[in-house]
Amino acid sequence: MDQQTKNEVFDQAKAWILEAGERIKSNIDAPRSIETKSNPNDLVTEMDQQTEQFFAEKIKSAYPDHYLLGEEGFGDELEDLGGTVWIVDPIDGTMNFVHQKRNFAISIGIYVDGIGEIGFIYNVMEGTLYTAKRGEGAWKNDAQLPQLSKERPLKQSILALNTTWLIPENPFIEHKGVEELVKTLRSTRSYGSAALELAFVAEGILDGYLTMTLMPWDYAAGSILVREVGGIVTRADKEDLDLLNKTTVLACRSNIHEEIINDYVQLKR
Ligand code: IPD
Ligand code: CA
Ligand code: CA
Repeated sequence: MDQQTKNEVFDQAKAWILEAGERIKSNIDAPRSIETKSNPNDLVTEMDQQTEQFFAEKIKSAYPDHYLLGEEGFGDELEDLGGTVWIVDPIDGTMNFVHQKRNFAISIGIYVDGIGEIGFIYNVMEGTLYTAKRGEGAWKNDAQLPQLSKERPLKQSILALNTTWLIPENPFIEHKGVEELVKTLRSTRSYGSAALELAFVAEGILDGYLTMTLMPWDYAAGSILVREVGGIVTRADKEDLDLLNKTTVLACRSNIHEEIINDYVQLKR
């Protein structure tokens, strides 16, 4: 994608995200139709579906040769990431959307041949738009985000971590290591939106985010943001992320990445 096209796609996507956000915001108190997906706590609402459909229609009419990988099924069935692919989570943090009416985001990562070129995370109710362009930097609204500290040690770090990983029976990670990690850290947070947690890592208000089960649309945009400010984003076993499958994710400042994986993360499979 040449620079001019990249800028045009960026401006267009930004306008659509703000429009979609406005629709969600103006409907925030409307009665919700709530369904469950993979389990009773995996929620989806009419607003998730309508928002993804909105992006699907816009993308297909403006860019018929682009692909859409979306959570709610309005996109394409993709076997690889060739070409230009919009990876869309229409509402990341649906449980927050339903229960709290805040702390959720629209997340869009635009990839060209598997490389993340443009990222957007829109904290809808707060009106904060995080953006990134590969090689150019990341922004929170109009303010460019500075590079992340490489100095702060783990014991002064705040990590976003779901308490699920402390349950001994969880099928993904040995809880003892997570316990040690929690004891070492300054503190933990859990916001319930992977996209926002990654945006907060990029902003430097969280030092990292460790999780066991994300889908591509949860981190497609956030990983671009974090990398643009010098952070590292990999699977929790240090391997590269696989954007077509469910994965573990560790996103953090570069100086604590190896330490977290080597000293505290022991995956069960
Ligand atoms: C979820 C959120 C949540 C994360 C889950 C995701 P959704 O996305 O990002 O924080 O822990 O793994 O599925 O379902 O609200 O789009
Ligand atoms: Ca999500
Ligand atoms: Ca979602």
